[in-house]
Order: sequence, then structure tokens, then C-alpha cells
Amino acid sequence: MEHSGLGLAITGCGSATPAVSVDNTQLSQIVETSDDWIASRTGIRHRRLAPPDSSLAELAAEAAKGAISMAGITAMDVDLILLATSTPDDLFGTACRVQAEIGASRAVAFDLTAACSGFVFGMVTAAQYIRTGVYQNVLLIGADILSRWVDWTDRRTCVLFGDGAGAVVMQANEADRLLAFELRSDGMLNKCLNLSYNSQPKPLLEDVAIAQGTFNPITMNGQDVYRFAVKRVPEVIEKALFRANLTVEQVDWLLLHQANQRILDAVATRLHIPSHKVISNLAQHGNTSAASIPLALDEAVRHGQVKPGDMIAASGFGAGLTWGAALFQWGRFD
Ligand code: UT7
Repeated sequence: MEHSGLGLAITGCGSATPAVSVDNTQLSQIVETSDDWIASRTGIRHRRLAPPDSSLAELAAEAAKGAISMAGITAMDVDLILLATSTPDDLFGTACRVQAEIGASRAVAFDLTAACSGFVFGMVTAAQYIRTGVYQNVLLIGADILSRWVDWTDRRTCVLFGDGAGAVVMQANEADRLLAFELRSDGMLNKCLNLSYNSQPKPLLEDVAIAQGTFNPITMNGQDVYRFAVKRVPEVIEKALFRANLTVEQVDWLLLHQANQRILDAVATRLHIPSHKVISNLAQHGNTSAASIPLALDEAVRHGQVKPGDMIAASGFGAGLTWGAALFQWGRFD
């Protein structure tokens, strides 16, 4: 990919999940479901759920500290914090609270909302700041607490989601390890997946009315999103590979948003990527939205699966609808 200025490397990762784990059988006490249905349709067996007294900022900060430490920098070295989330503690943004929590007082911080695509969109956003020479060290966090926003009486959605955070440090580097990307949005499909504001008109003055209300829980047309993901995700990965002049055989790991094991398998089959190259932690965590890709990356790195120099095809997809792929080489290496 052509660009003027510096390249970047992804030099550290970290993650954090709440301590409480709930399995499928426990969920069958809340809604009419079964371990067999959830596991066979999605691959999910457990999910972590954030307790009432916890915050997104705390979860994000814990993931951030792991990434900063692995990268071998300090919080004071961070120039920019991007927090990809759809479930902030505060609608004005939570990135600044993370900044305070980790003591990155030099950094500028803001939230980025692109649902389950947030991490991939954030990676590309971070890359622009580094490649233009504006910032050297960017902390990118994907974090969501969707348990606060699902309808726990709706078995079609509540069994799918879990809470968590994942983070990476991206640093200016002579060689550019983000080899290509492709980002897409289609607002025509917005109705497939929403966490929408439900407002009621409220008269304020004689001829002035405003609206006030609350957010509705998540609604999703699962089959439409499933079909969209299986078709569109391989396309953006192929486009990124084409841009980087690479073949699918050169991909070491397929790292998809962890929405459903059947989606992971179908995308891998379409791309002719063997199953041993597919990273999956769905069984333990379910769908953690913006956190799912960096959480799975961090586990794979810390378990010694993903090694420095490995080629990763990452792809996020979800509400918007949004989807995108980023092709990168992990870590610091010569
Ligand atoms: O992160 C954002 C991106 N989101 C996604 O990628 C989600 C994509 N979609 C999916 O993963 C799948 O569509 C689901 C896992 C959400 C649903 O699986 P499905 O195979 O598409 O099931 P379905 O919606 O066609 O439902 C089949 C049946 C229905 O019953 P009937 O109408 O056939 O009698 C549902 O009512 O399964 C029923 N059902 C359940 N049964 C037991 C739906 N949810 C449950 C449940 N337990 N939790």
C-alpha cells in the first residue's frame, strides 16, 4: 500500500474479562433454551458477565495495561488512546476515563463506535495517525459490556453475548506491518441489528417540542446478519489480500469477530483456509463485540499460538451494518 511517512508495528496486546462465568445450562434457568441448542448453533458454551459495581473503563484499563507492558513502553509514552466501544459508561465517551485510570496523561483520548467492527476500524484509524507521523504510540482498545444492553427475556439474543476487553499497542516502525485493509458500511441494512434510542415527544414551550427517552435493548435479525457475514467477510479479506499482493496460502491465522463458530467455519471454507488456522475462543467468551478480536489475539499470543511475524487476516462485522478486514503481521521482528 502506498503512503508517505512512517510504517507501524503492533507490538503489544492485553485483555481482561470479568471473573464471573455463566454456562449455557445456567442460562436455561432464565430463558427457554438448552446447552445443546446454543453449543450446536453457535459454538458458545460460556460467557463472562460484568458485575453491577464494575465499569467499562476499569475493564478497558486492565486490558490496556497488559498491552502497554508487553510493548515495553509506559503509559506516559502513549500519544493517542482509541476506545472502540458501543457500551460506554458515559455517552460523552469513556476513553478519557481510561486515560485517567492508566495514567496516560500525555495522551489524547476518544471513543470510536462501529459496533463489532470497532476494533478493525480503530486499527485503520490508528494507522493513519502513525503513518502521517503525527503520533508514535497508539493504544487501541476494544471493550464492551453488552450484558447491560441485551433483553434477558429474548433467547434469540441474550445467549450470544459476553463482556470483555482487549487492547493492542501500535507503534511507529520503519517497516509497515499493516499490509492492507478494506472497510465497508451499508446503512441500508441498519435495521438488521440495533441498540436504538426510543424517544417520546415532549412539549417544552407552546410551539417547541423535544424528544426524551431511553435506549431499547439489542434487536437482531440473526439470519440476515448471518447471511451478510458469510458473504461479505470473505470479500473484504480477498480485497485486502489483493491489495497486499498476497495469496490466501500466506495467511497464518484467520482472526474473525467471534460471533458464531458456524460463521467462522463458513468463511474459512469459502477462503480455503484450513480449520487449524482459525482462531476461536467463542466457547469460553461468546460474542464480546468490539473486544472479540483483540481478546482472541491476546489469548493466542500468550498461549504461544501466534508468533512474531505471523500473518493475520482479521475481520470484524456487525451493526451499521459495518464490516472490514485488516491484514497485519503480529509483533516486533526483523
Ligand atoms: O456481533 C454481531 C453479529 N451477529 C451475528 O453475526 C449473528 C449472526 N446470526 C447467528 O449467529 C444466528 O442466526 C443465530 C445464532 C443468532 C441464530 O441461529 P439460527 O440457526 O439462524 O436460528 P434461527 O434464528 O433460524 O432460529 C431457529 C429456531 C427458531 O425456532 P422455530 O421458529 O424454528 O420454532 C428459534 O425460535 O431456534 C429458536 N431459537 C432458540 N431455541 C433455543 C432461537 N434462539 C434460541 C435459543 N434456544 N437460544
